[in-house]
Amino acid sequence: MSGQRYIHGGTDAVEVARLEKQARWVSPILLQRFEAKPGMRVLDLATGVGAMAGQLLERWPLIELYGADLSASQLRIAQREHPAVRYVRANGAALPFPDGSFDRVHWTWFIEHVSKEVAVKALAEVRRVLKAGGYAHFTEVDNSTFRTVPALPHVKAAIDALNAGQVRGGGDPYVGQKIVQYAREAGFTRIDSRPNVLKGDQRDPLFLQGFIDEFAEIFESVDEALGAPLTEAAAELRGLIREPRGELHYTSVTTQVFKT
Ligand SMILES: C[S@@+](CC[C@H](N)C(=O)[O-])C[C@H]1O[C@@H](n2cnc3c(N)ncnc32)[C@H](O)[C@@H]1O
Repeated sequence: MSGQRYIHGGTDAVEVARLEKQARWVSPILLQRFEAKPGMRVLDLATGVGAMAGQLLERWPLIELYGADLSASQLRIAQREHPAVRYVRANGAALPFPDGSFDRVHWTWFIEHVSKEVAVKALAEVRRVLKAGGYAHFTEVDNSTFRTVPALPHVKAAIDALNAGQVRGGGDPYVGQKIVQYAREAGFTRIDSRPNVLKGDQRDPLFLQGFIDEFAEIFESVDEALGAPLTEAAAELRGLIREPRGELHYTSVTTQVFKT
């Protein structure tokens, strides 16, 4: 894992279940613009435990799906959980595939973990392994958009700790804002980047509850690694469901880059 310390995304059973649940919750939002035809070769880059790879196969069961990740331990879990995917241990910045290997490349929450240098190299590698006419479709974070109404002090402190931990590990919790620039530097000229603006409130309590759970579970999962009392933040965030005027806001960024 490039010598970096990951603040979430481990391989214990609770964390694997959290990642699967997260993938089920986010995929209807994040995969809206993705399409693939039967027989297409698709790469799920930084596949981790294969949670989003599973979602891709559920929607497009006839694609030829590859999963690549730097971490052997993540790939062992992925192989167990989603055995229909072909896994390859690989660094995104030096992909072990010939030019023009894939019709589609997909990823979620990858570039947030690496330096700008690795990010641009990885995007250039993605461009190299895409077939002409193919595209990559990927989603990254912008944690500056996280906001609750009313403001919740423990939650705010938890997000700050999470962001600081990610920066310490060499990543970038605001990378969603920079991804178009990185894609240009990697040689892409046709780029379509759109925010996924999410707002949860009491008009849709079920959505609000799911949205709260996603972040509360992230706070609980990073607790040990950060050594911070994030369970307090998780409890405070869970209390938002009882606020008649409570709101939760978060915007990730989904980008498509085309090999012309
Ligand atoms: C937050 S996880 C996301 C996993 C998966 N995409 C998902 O949504 O469940 C980030 C993944 O990026 C992988 N990763 C980090 N740096 C990498 C690199 N340079 N090349 C390939 N994978 C990398 C990590 O091993 C980890 O599995």
